[in-house]
Amino acid sequence: MRIVIKENRYEASAFAAEAIALQLQQKPTSVLGLATGSTPTLCYEQLIRLYKEGYVDFSQASSFNLDEYHGLSPEHPQSYRYFMQQQLFDHINIDVKNTHVPDGLNENPIQACSDYEDEINAHGGIDIQVLGIGRNGHIGFNEPTSGLQSRTRIKTLTQSTTNANSRFFGNGEFQPELALTMGIGTILEARKILLLAFGEEKSQAVQTMIEGALSAYCPASALQLHPDAIIVLDRDAASRL
Ligand code: GLP
Repeated sequence: MRIVIKENRYEASAFAAEAIALQLQQKPTSVLGLATGSTPTLCYEQLIRLYKEGYVDFSQASSFNLDEYHGLSPEHPQSYRYFMQQQLFDHINIDVKNTHVPDGLNENPIQACSDYEDEINAHGGIDIQVLGIGRNGHIGFNEPTSGLQSRTRIKTLTQSTTNANSRFFGNGEFQPELALTMGIGTILEARKILLLAFGEEKSQAVQTMIEGALSAYCPASALQLHPDAIIVLDRDAASRL
């Protein structure tokens, strides 16, 4: 693991966006692994800026998102497909046919997950994977106790994750308790990983990921095994290291 600590989340996000831009400059057909949540939004903003300034071209790129809620349509404002369209895809020249998000409405989610793995492999694997981290150390929707070699599958979310994400759902609105997520084994196969974490509320998970034991209790600790994982932090997220 390489740990990069920046003064604030803006500098950290710019660092991550530049790493993605560099990847695309070196290999225009790159396969990007993308994440949702509030953490990567500034990085996507920076990527859009780099695209508008002519530094990065997505025309030959493709992407795979980490996860999607089960039971939400792509048009639902809380679905991760919708998030990606709003936050990134609608603002850059990526061909939407080349963007992949697990299908939250598939009637056979087990098959949909195995097809997702096949599709990643058919694209030659992920070149660079962007990750956030949950307060309980989850990556994607791989909650604590997820198998360290797990593959894309349907998972039940923990109470702490549904509580943390309830801020995005209205009072009385259906909030999914199941999600389709790449597995930890799937994530570890990405050739390069960029995990971003900002704010004091992530500092405990960050410390456990970096300084704790390799353990299914902290899914992100599996990144200790990855040969090219960069952890990009602001000062607050790094405060317990
Ligand atoms: C969500 C997502 C993760 C994300 C994490 C943190 O549940 N499935 O991919 O990294 O929780 O979210 P945030 O960046 O909003 O703190």
